[in-house]
Amino acid sequence: MIDSANGEPLKVDVLIVGAGAAGLMCAIAAGQRGRSVLVVDHANKAGKKILMSGGGRCNFTNMGVTPANYLSANPHFAKSALARYTPWDFIALVEKHGIAYHEKELGQLFCDDSSKQIVRMLLDECSAAGVRVETGCAVERVRRHDEGFSVRTARGEVHAESLVVACGGLSIPSMGASGFGYELARQFGHEVLPVRAGLVPLTLSGKHQERYEDLAGVALPMVESRVGKSRFRAGMLFTHRGISGPAILQISSYWQPGDDLRVDLLPDLDAGGWLNEQRVARPAAELKNVLADVLPKRLAQRLCERGFLAPQSSGHPWPLPAFESRPMRQYREADLHEIGRQLHDWPIVASGTEGYRTAEVTLGGVDTDGLSSSTMQSKLVPGLYFIGEVVDVTGWLGGYNFQWAWASGQAAGQVA
Ligand code: FDA
Repeated sequence: MIDSANGEPLKVDVLIVGAGAAGLMCAIAAGQRGRSVLVVDHANKAGKKILMSGGGRCNFTNMGVTPANYLSANPHFAKSALARYTPWDFIALVEKHGIAYHEKELGQLFCDDSSKQIVRMLLDECSAAGVRVETGCAVERVRRHDEGFSVRTARGEVHAESLVVACGGLSIPSMGASGFGYELARQFGHEVLPVRAGLVPLTLSGKHQERYEDLAGVALPMVESRVGKSRFRAGMLFTHRGISGPAILQISSYWQPGDDLRVDLLPDLDAGGWLNEQRVARPAAELKNVLADVLPKRLAQRLCERGFLAPQSSGHPWPLPAFESRPMRQYREADLHEIGRQLHDWPIVASGTEGYRTAEVTLGGVDTDGLSSSTMQSKLVPGLYFIGEVVDVTGWLGGYNFQWAWASGQAAGQVA
Protein backbone atom coordinates (compact mmCIF):
# COMPACT_ATOMS: atom_id res chain seq x y z
CA MET A 1 0.00 0.00 0.00
CA ILE A 2 1.13 3.53 -0.62
CA ASP A 3 -1.38 5.01 1.90
CA SER A 4 0.04 6.71 4.94
CA ALA A 5 0.25 4.58 8.11
CA ASN A 6 -3.06 5.69 9.68
CA GLY A 7 -5.07 4.60 6.62
CA GLU A 8 -5.57 8.17 5.48
CA PRO A 9 -4.72 8.96 1.83
CA LEU A 10 -1.06 9.68 1.28
CA LYS A 11 -0.46 13.39 0.80
CA VAL A 12 2.23 14.56 -1.61
CA ASP A 13 3.02 17.85 -3.28
CA VAL A 14 3.47 16.33 -6.73
CA LEU A 15 2.08 13.09 -8.16
CA ILE A 16 3.55 12.06 -11.49
CA VAL A 17 1.78 9.40 -13.58
CA GLY A 18 4.40 7.60 -15.68
CA ALA A 19 7.97 6.68 -14.72
CA GLY A 20 9.36 7.14 -18.23
CA ALA A 21 11.89 9.66 -19.47
CA ALA A 22 9.73 12.76 -18.96
CA GLY A 23 8.20 11.67 -15.64
CA LEU A 24 11.53 10.80 -14.01
CA MET A 25 13.17 14.04 -15.18
CA CYS A 26 10.24 16.07 -13.82
CA ALA A 27 10.42 14.17 -10.52
CA ILE A 28 14.12 14.98 -10.12
CA ALA A 29 13.60 18.70 -10.76
CA ALA A 30 10.60 18.94 -8.40
CA GLY A 31 12.31 16.84 -5.71
CA GLN A 32 15.42 19.02 -5.86
CA ARG A 33 13.18 22.02 -5.08
CA GLY A 34 12.15 20.31 -1.85
CA ARG A 35 8.73 19.15 -3.07
CA SER A 36 7.49 15.76 -1.90
CA VAL A 37 7.15 13.72 -5.07
CA LEU A 38 5.56 10.34 -5.85
CA VAL A 39 5.92 8.75 -9.29
CA VAL A 40 3.56 5.86 -10.13
CA ASP A 41 3.74 3.57 -13.15
CA HIS A 42 1.63 0.55 -14.00
CA ALA A 43 4.56 -1.22 -15.67
CA ASN A 44 6.74 -3.54 -13.59
CA LYS A 45 9.80 -1.31 -13.91
CA ALA A 46 10.69 2.31 -14.55
CA GLY A 47 11.98 3.59 -17.88
CA LYS A 48 11.18 0.54 -20.01
CA LYS A 49 11.37 2.49 -23.27
CA ILE A 50 14.69 3.99 -22.26
CA LEU A 51 15.96 0.44 -21.71
CA MET A 52 14.97 -0.71 -25.21
CA SER A 53 15.97 2.51 -26.95
CA GLY A 54 18.83 2.97 -29.37
CA GLY A 55 19.28 -0.78 -29.76
CA GLY A 56 19.97 -1.06 -25.99
CA ARG A 57 22.42 1.87 -25.95
CA CYS A 58 19.90 4.76 -25.69
CA ASN A 59 20.37 7.61 -28.15
CA PHE A 60 19.79 9.99 -25.24
CA THR A 61 20.06 13.32 -27.03
CA ASN A 62 21.17 15.06 -30.21
CA MET A 63 23.72 17.88 -30.17
CA GLY A 64 21.98 19.56 -33.11
CA VAL A 65 18.51 19.90 -31.52
CA THR A 66 16.42 22.80 -32.85
CA PRO A 67 12.64 23.34 -32.76
CA ALA A 68 12.64 22.56 -36.52
CA ASN A 69 13.33 18.91 -35.64
CA TYR A 70 9.84 18.53 -34.15
CA LEU A 71 6.35 18.06 -35.58
CA SER A 72 3.46 19.80 -33.83
CA ALA A 73 0.31 21.69 -34.80
CA ASN A 74 2.10 24.65 -33.13
CA PRO A 75 5.75 24.58 -34.28
CA HIS A 76 6.63 27.34 -31.77
CA PHE A 77 5.43 25.50 -28.68
CA ALA A 78 8.59 23.47 -28.01
CA LYS A 79 10.97 26.46 -28.31
CA SER A 80 10.89 27.69 -24.72
CA ALA A 81 11.44 24.35 -22.98
CA LEU A 82 14.12 23.25 -25.48
CA ALA A 83 16.00 26.53 -25.01
CA ARG A 84 15.97 26.26 -21.22
CA TYR A 85 17.09 22.62 -20.97
CA THR A 86 19.57 21.90 -23.74
CA PRO A 87 21.44 18.76 -24.82
CA TRP A 88 24.45 20.16 -22.93
CA ASP A 89 22.48 20.14 -19.67
CA PHE A 90 21.69 16.46 -20.14
CA ILE A 91 25.27 15.69 -21.23
CA ALA A 92 26.50 17.34 -18.00
CA LEU A 93 24.26 14.98 -16.01
CA VAL A 94 25.52 11.95 -17.95
CA GLU A 95 29.12 13.04 -17.32
CA LYS A 96 28.44 13.65 -13.62
CA HIS A 97 27.45 9.98 -13.40
CA GLY A 98 30.56 8.86 -15.25
CA ILE A 99 28.61 7.31 -18.12
CA ALA A 100 30.77 6.87 -21.21
CA TYR A 101 29.13 7.94 -24.47
CA HIS A 102 29.94 8.60 -28.11
CA GLU A 103 28.55 10.39 -31.13
CA LYS A 104 27.35 7.83 -33.66
CA GLU A 105 26.55 10.24 -36.50
CA LEU A 106 24.71 13.50 -37.11
CA GLY A 107 25.00 14.66 -33.49
CA GLN A 108 23.35 11.52 -32.08
CA LEU A 109 24.79 10.59 -28.66
CA PHE A 110 24.65 6.99 -27.42
CA CYS A 111 25.90 5.23 -24.28
CA ASP A 112 29.05 3.22 -24.93
CA ASP A 113 27.73 0.38 -22.78
CA SER A 114 24.04 0.20 -22.00
CA SER A 115 20.83 2.21 -21.73
CA LYS A 116 20.47 0.65 -18.26
CA GLN A 117 22.99 3.29 -17.15
CA ILE A 118 20.60 6.10 -18.09
CA VAL A 119 17.74 4.54 -16.10
CA ARG A 120 20.10 3.93 -13.15
CA MET A 121 21.25 7.56 -13.34
CA LEU A 122 17.67 8.87 -13.31
CA LEU A 123 16.64 6.60 -10.42
CA ASP A 124 19.77 7.56 -8.42
CA GLU A 125 18.95 11.24 -8.98
CA CYS A 126 15.37 10.54 -7.90
CA SER A 127 16.46 8.94 -4.64
CA ALA A 128 18.98 11.74 -3.98
CA ALA A 129 16.10 14.20 -4.39
CA GLY A 130 13.86 12.18 -2.04
CA VAL A 131 11.49 11.06 -4.81
CA ARG A 132 9.47 7.89 -4.27
CA VAL A 133 8.94 5.72 -7.36
CA GLU A 134 6.23 3.02 -7.29
CA THR A 135 6.04 0.60 -10.20
CA GLY A 136 3.36 -2.03 -10.82
CA CYS A 137 0.85 0.57 -9.63
CA ALA A 138 -1.99 1.50 -12.00
CA VAL A 139 -3.95 4.71 -11.64
CA GLU A 140 -7.65 3.97 -11.59
CA ARG A 141 -9.36 7.33 -11.18
CA VAL A 142 -8.48 11.00 -10.83
CA ARG A 143 -10.67 13.68 -9.25
CA ARG A 144 -10.05 17.37 -8.83
CA HIS A 145 -10.92 19.14 -5.58
CA ASP A 146 -10.16 22.50 -3.96
CA GLU A 147 -6.68 21.61 -2.70
CA GLY A 148 -5.58 19.62 -5.73
CA PHE A 149 -6.22 16.10 -6.95
CA SER A 150 -7.31 12.89 -5.38
CA VAL A 151 -6.04 9.88 -7.22
CA ARG A 152 -7.10 6.29 -6.68
CA THR A 153 -4.31 3.89 -7.49
CA ALA A 154 -4.22 0.11 -7.37
CA ARG A 155 -2.35 0.50 -4.05
CA GLY A 156 -4.41 3.17 -2.36
CA GLU A 157 -5.55 6.77 -2.47
CA VAL A 158 -3.16 9.71 -2.96
CA HIS A 159 -3.86 13.42 -2.52
CA ALA A 160 -1.59 15.71 -4.54
CA GLU A 161 -1.37 19.44 -4.99
CA SER A 162 0.00 19.03 -8.53
CA LEU A 163 -0.66 16.23 -10.98
CA VAL A 164 1.78 15.63 -13.82
CA VAL A 165 0.63 13.42 -16.69
CA ALA A 166 3.67 11.73 -18.22
CA CYS A 167 2.01 8.60 -19.63
CA GLY A 168 3.67 8.71 -23.06
CA GLY A 169 1.96 7.73 -26.31
CA LEU A 170 0.53 4.54 -27.80
CA SER A 171 3.66 3.07 -29.36
CA ILE A 172 4.73 -0.42 -28.28
CA PRO A 173 1.75 -1.42 -26.10
CA SER A 174 3.74 -4.41 -24.81
CA MET A 175 6.06 -1.90 -23.03
CA GLY A 176 3.23 -0.35 -21.00
CA ALA A 177 1.94 2.24 -23.49
CA SER A 178 -1.68 3.18 -22.93
CA GLY A 179 -4.06 5.92 -23.98
CA PHE A 180 -4.51 6.93 -20.34
CA GLY A 181 -2.84 10.33 -20.73
CA TYR A 182 -5.26 11.25 -23.49
CA GLU A 183 -8.22 10.08 -21.36
CA LEU A 184 -7.07 12.31 -18.49
CA ALA A 185 -6.64 15.24 -20.87
CA ARG A 186 -10.20 14.83 -22.18
CA GLN A 187 -11.54 14.39 -18.65
CA PHE A 188 -10.21 17.85 -17.79
CA GLY A 189 -11.54 19.49 -20.97
CA HIS A 190 -8.35 19.39 -23.07
CA GLU A 191 -8.42 18.87 -26.81
CA VAL A 192 -6.55 15.77 -28.01
CA LEU A 193 -5.39 16.05 -31.62
CA PRO A 194 -5.68 12.89 -33.76
CA VAL A 195 -2.91 10.41 -33.02
CA ARG A 196 -1.05 8.12 -35.42
CA ALA A 197 2.10 6.03 -35.47
CA GLY A 198 5.35 7.86 -36.31
CA LEU A 199 8.93 6.75 -36.98
CA VAL A 200 7.47 3.50 -38.26
CA PRO A 201 8.14 1.11 -41.18
CA LEU A 202 5.79 1.48 -44.16
CA THR A 203 3.88 -1.44 -45.65
CA LEU A 204 3.23 -2.24 -49.31
CA SER A 205 0.40 -4.34 -50.72
CA GLY A 206 -0.88 -5.90 -53.92
CA LYS A 207 1.20 -5.32 -57.04
CA HIS A 208 3.33 -2.79 -55.21
CA GLN A 209 4.39 -5.46 -52.73
CA GLU A 210 4.92 -8.01 -55.51
CA ARG A 211 7.42 -5.63 -57.13
CA TYR A 212 9.77 -5.84 -54.17
CA GLU A 213 8.82 -9.24 -52.82
CA ASP A 214 11.87 -11.38 -52.08
CA LEU A 215 14.07 -8.27 -51.74
CA ALA A 216 13.61 -8.45 -47.93
CA GLY A 217 16.96 -7.75 -46.31
CA VAL A 218 18.32 -5.68 -49.20
CA ALA A 219 19.73 -2.41 -47.78
CA LEU A 220 20.76 0.87 -49.43
CA PRO A 221 23.24 2.82 -47.30
CA MET A 222 22.08 6.24 -48.54
CA VAL A 223 18.85 7.33 -50.22
CA GLU A 224 16.78 10.50 -50.01
CA SER A 225 13.14 9.96 -49.05
CA ARG A 226 10.70 12.72 -49.98
CA VAL A 227 7.11 13.66 -49.19
CA GLY A 228 6.12 17.18 -50.19
CA LYS A 229 8.84 19.52 -48.95
CA SER A 230 10.15 17.09 -46.31
CA ARG A 231 13.22 15.08 -47.22
CA PHE A 232 15.65 12.86 -45.34
CA ARG A 233 18.98 11.41 -46.39
CA ALA A 234 19.80 8.12 -44.68
CA GLY A 235 19.68 4.38 -45.21
CA MET A 236 16.75 2.30 -46.45
CA LEU A 237 15.88 -1.36 -46.09
CA PHE A 238 13.41 -3.69 -47.81
CA THR A 239 11.43 -5.78 -45.32
CA HIS A 240 9.01 -8.71 -45.68
CA ARG A 241 6.10 -6.30 -45.41
CA GLY A 242 7.48 -3.21 -47.11
CA ILE A 243 10.25 -0.70 -46.45
CA SER A 244 12.12 0.56 -43.40
CA GLY A 245 15.48 2.02 -42.40
CA PRO A 246 16.15 5.53 -41.04
CA ALA A 247 15.21 7.44 -44.23
CA ILE A 248 11.83 5.69 -44.28
CA LEU A 249 11.20 5.95 -40.52
CA GLN A 250 11.89 9.70 -40.69
CA ILE A 251 9.62 10.32 -43.67
CA SER A 252 6.87 8.11 -42.18
CA SER A 253 6.11 10.89 -39.68
CA TYR A 254 5.31 13.20 -42.60
CA TRP A 255 3.51 10.60 -44.75
CA GLN A 256 -0.20 9.90 -44.70
CA PRO A 257 -2.05 7.31 -46.84
CA GLY A 258 -2.42 8.62 -50.38
CA ASP A 259 0.61 10.94 -50.16
CA ASP A 260 3.16 10.78 -52.97
CA LEU A 261 6.33 9.17 -51.58
CA ARG A 262 9.46 9.39 -53.72
CA VAL A 263 12.90 7.99 -53.10
CA ASP A 264 16.11 9.18 -54.72
CA LEU A 265 17.97 5.88 -54.92
CA LEU A 266 21.28 7.55 -55.84
CA PRO A 267 21.31 10.96 -54.12
CA ASP A 268 25.07 11.41 -54.40
CA LEU A 269 25.37 10.69 -58.12
CA ASP A 270 24.26 12.32 -61.38
CA ALA A 271 22.84 8.95 -62.44
CA GLY A 272 22.05 9.88 -66.07
CA GLY A 273 25.50 11.40 -66.66
CA TRP A 274 27.20 8.46 -64.96
CA LEU A 275 25.26 5.87 -67.02
CA ASN A 276 26.28 7.65 -70.23
CA GLU A 277 29.91 7.57 -69.12
CA GLN A 278 29.52 3.83 -68.57
CA ARG A 279 27.99 3.45 -72.05
CA VAL A 280 31.22 4.80 -73.49
CA ALA A 281 33.55 3.00 -71.08
CA ARG A 282 31.76 -0.40 -70.98
CA PRO A 283 29.62 -0.71 -74.13
CA ALA A 284 29.24 -4.49 -73.83
CA ALA A 285 28.25 -4.49 -70.15
CA GLU A 286 24.58 -5.09 -69.39
CA LEU A 287 22.61 -2.31 -67.71
CA LYS A 288 21.77 -4.47 -64.65
CA ASN A 289 25.45 -5.21 -64.07
CA VAL A 290 26.39 -1.55 -64.47
CA LEU A 291 23.67 -0.52 -62.01
CA ALA A 292 24.91 -3.19 -59.59
CA ASP A 293 28.06 -1.08 -59.18
CA VAL A 294 26.04 1.61 -57.40
CA LEU A 295 22.96 -0.27 -56.14
CA PRO A 296 22.54 -3.62 -54.37
CA LYS A 297 22.75 -6.33 -57.03
CA ARG A 298 19.31 -7.83 -56.37
CA LEU A 299 17.67 -4.43 -56.55
CA ALA A 300 19.54 -3.50 -59.75
CA GLN A 301 18.34 -6.73 -61.30
CA ARG A 302 14.76 -6.18 -60.18
CA LEU A 303 14.67 -2.61 -61.48
CA CYS A 304 15.73 -3.85 -64.92
CA GLU A 305 13.04 -6.53 -65.06
CA ARG A 306 9.49 -6.20 -66.29
CA GLY A 307 9.91 -2.69 -67.61
CA PHE A 308 10.05 -1.14 -64.12
CA LEU A 309 12.29 1.53 -65.55
CA ALA A 310 9.70 2.79 -68.02
CA PRO A 311 10.73 4.79 -71.10
CA GLN A 312 8.05 7.40 -70.49
CA SER A 313 9.79 10.32 -72.11
CA SER A 314 12.37 8.64 -74.30
CA GLY A 315 10.37 9.08 -77.48
CA HIS A 316 10.04 5.33 -78.06
CA PRO A 317 6.61 3.97 -78.90
CA TRP A 318 5.16 2.01 -75.96
CA PRO A 319 5.29 -0.88 -75.17
CA LEU A 320 8.94 -1.44 -75.85
CA PRO A 321 11.22 -3.44 -73.59
CA ALA A 322 13.66 -0.61 -74.05
CA PHE A 323 14.96 -0.51 -70.51
CA GLU A 324 15.16 -4.16 -69.81
CA SER A 325 18.69 -5.14 -69.27
CA ARG A 326 20.63 -4.99 -72.51
CA PRO A 327 24.22 -4.09 -73.35
CA MET A 328 24.90 -0.43 -72.68
CA ARG A 329 25.72 0.31 -76.31
CA GLN A 330 22.10 -0.42 -77.27
CA TYR A 331 20.76 2.50 -75.23
CA ARG A 332 20.54 6.01 -76.58
CA GLU A 333 21.93 8.89 -74.54
CA ALA A 334 18.40 10.17 -73.88
CA ASP A 335 17.29 6.71 -72.65
CA LEU A 336 20.04 6.66 -70.05
CA HIS A 337 19.24 10.19 -68.90
CA GLU A 338 15.63 9.07 -68.50
CA ILE A 339 16.69 6.01 -66.50
CA GLY A 340 18.82 8.29 -64.35
CA ARG A 341 15.89 10.65 -63.79
CA GLN A 342 13.71 7.76 -62.68
CA LEU A 343 16.35 6.46 -60.28
CA HIS A 344 16.44 9.91 -58.67
CA ASP A 345 12.65 10.08 -58.35
CA TRP A 346 11.51 6.52 -57.66
CA PRO A 347 7.82 6.34 -56.65
CA ILE A 348 6.90 3.96 -53.86
CA VAL A 349 3.20 3.37 -53.26
CA ALA A 350 2.85 2.50 -49.57
CA SER A 351 -0.43 1.11 -48.31
CA GLY A 352 0.03 1.97 -44.63
CA THR A 353 2.37 1.67 -41.67
CA GLU A 354 3.23 -1.19 -39.35
CA GLY A 355 1.32 0.74 -36.67
CA TYR A 356 1.94 1.17 -32.96
CA ARG A 357 3.35 -2.35 -32.62
CA THR A 358 6.68 -1.17 -34.04
CA ALA A 359 6.37 2.65 -34.08
CA GLU A 360 8.95 4.56 -32.06
CA VAL A 361 6.59 7.44 -31.36
CA THR A 362 3.00 8.64 -31.45
CA LEU A 363 2.25 11.77 -33.45
CA GLY A 364 -0.48 14.13 -32.27
CA GLY A 365 -1.77 14.10 -28.69
CA VAL A 366 -2.66 16.74 -26.12
CA ASP A 367 -3.21 20.02 -27.98
CA THR A 368 -0.53 22.53 -27.02
CA ASP A 369 -3.09 25.37 -27.26
CA GLY A 370 -4.31 24.31 -23.82
CA LEU A 371 -0.84 24.33 -22.23
CA SER A 372 1.71 26.93 -21.15
CA SER A 373 4.84 26.52 -23.28
CA SER A 374 7.11 27.60 -20.43
CA THR A 375 5.70 25.37 -17.66
CA MET A 376 3.58 22.71 -19.46
CA GLN A 377 0.79 23.63 -17.03
CA SER A 378 -2.82 23.33 -18.18
CA LYS A 379 -4.45 26.66 -18.99
CA LEU A 380 -7.77 25.11 -17.93
CA VAL A 381 -6.93 23.36 -14.65
CA PRO A 382 -4.34 24.89 -12.31
CA GLY A 383 -1.91 22.31 -10.95
CA LEU A 384 -2.33 19.92 -13.90
CA TYR A 385 0.67 19.37 -16.22
CA PHE A 386 1.30 17.34 -19.39
CA ILE A 387 4.86 16.44 -20.45
CA GLY A 388 6.74 14.23 -22.90
CA GLU A 389 5.23 12.23 -25.71
CA VAL A 390 1.61 12.56 -24.56
CA VAL A 391 1.82 16.18 -25.77
CA ASP A 392 1.48 17.04 -29.47
CA VAL A 393 5.24 17.46 -29.94
CA THR A 394 7.08 14.68 -31.82
CA GLY A 395 10.75 14.65 -32.71
CA TRP A 396 12.72 13.20 -35.58
CA LEU A 397 14.67 9.99 -35.22
CA GLY A 398 18.06 10.57 -33.58
CA GLY A 399 17.71 11.49 -29.88
CA TYR A 400 15.24 14.33 -30.41
CA ASN A 401 12.38 12.60 -28.61
CA PHE A 402 14.33 12.01 -25.43
CA GLN A 403 15.53 15.62 -25.50
CA TRP A 404 11.88 16.73 -25.61
CA ALA A 405 11.08 14.39 -22.70
CA TRP A 406 13.99 15.81 -20.61
CA ALA A 407 13.22 19.44 -21.52
CA SER A 408 9.45 19.30 -20.99
CA GLY A 409 9.93 17.28 -17.79
CA GLN A 410 12.40 19.84 -16.48
CA ALA A 411 10.08 22.74 -17.39
CA ALA A 412 7.21 21.25 -15.37
CA GLY A 413 9.49 20.11 -12.53
CA GLN A 414 10.63 23.71 -11.97
CA VAL A 415 7.12 24.82 -10.98
CA ALA A 416 4.88 21.81 -10.16
P1 FDA B 1 7.41 6.90 -21.94
O1 FDA B 1 6.66 6.04 -22.88
O2 FDA B 1 8.89 6.77 -21.87
O3 FDA B 1 6.87 6.70 -20.46
C1 FDA B 1 5.49 6.66 -20.16
C2 FDA B 1 5.31 5.82 -18.94
O4 FDA B 1 3.95 5.92 -18.52
C3 FDA B 1 5.59 4.36 -19.18
O5 FDA B 1 6.54 3.90 -18.24
C4 FDA B 1 4.25 3.68 -19.02
O6 FDA B 1 4.33 2.39 -18.44
C5 FDA B 1 3.54 4.65 -18.10
N1 FDA B 1 2.07 4.58 -18.17
C6 FDA B 1 1.33 4.57 -19.29
N2 FDA B 1 0.02 4.48 -18.95
C7 FDA B 1 -0.02 4.44 -17.59
C8 FDA B 1 -1.07 4.34 -16.65
N3 FDA B 1 -2.36 4.24 -17.03
N4 FDA B 1 -0.78 4.33 -15.32
C9 FDA B 1 0.53 4.40 -14.92
N5 FDA B 1 1.56 4.50 -15.78
C10 FDA B 1 1.29 4.52 -17.09
N6 FDA B 1 13.86 8.36 -28.56
C11 FDA B 1 15.08 8.91 -28.59
O7 FDA B 1 15.20 10.13 -28.43
N7 FDA B 1 16.20 8.12 -28.78
C12 FDA B 1 16.11 6.77 -28.95
O8 FDA B 1 17.12 6.07 -29.04
C13 FDA B 1 14.80 6.19 -28.98
N8 FDA B 1 14.66 4.86 -29.21
C14 FDA B 1 13.41 4.30 -29.16
C15 FDA B 1 13.26 2.94 -29.40
C16 FDA B 1 12.02 2.36 -29.33
C17 FDA B 1 11.86 0.90 -29.64
C18 FDA B 1 10.89 3.15 -29.01
C19 FDA B 1 9.51 2.54 -28.90
C20 FDA B 1 11.02 4.51 -28.79
C21 FDA B 1 12.27 5.11 -28.88
N9 FDA B 1 12.43 6.48 -28.67
C22 FDA B 1 13.69 7.02 -28.72
C23 FDA B 1 11.30 7.34 -28.32
C24 FDA B 1 11.29 7.57 -26.79
O9 FDA B 1 11.39 6.31 -26.16
C25 FDA B 1 10.03 8.27 -26.33
O10 FDA B 1 9.82 9.44 -27.09
C26 FDA B 1 10.14 8.64 -24.85
O11 FDA B 1 10.29 7.46 -24.10
C27 FDA B 1 8.92 9.40 -24.38
O12 FDA B 1 9.05 9.61 -23.00
P2 FDA B 1 7.77 9.75 -22.08
O13 FDA B 1 8.28 9.80 -20.68
O14 FDA B 1 6.89 10.81 -22.57
O15 FDA B 1 6.97 8.38 -22.31
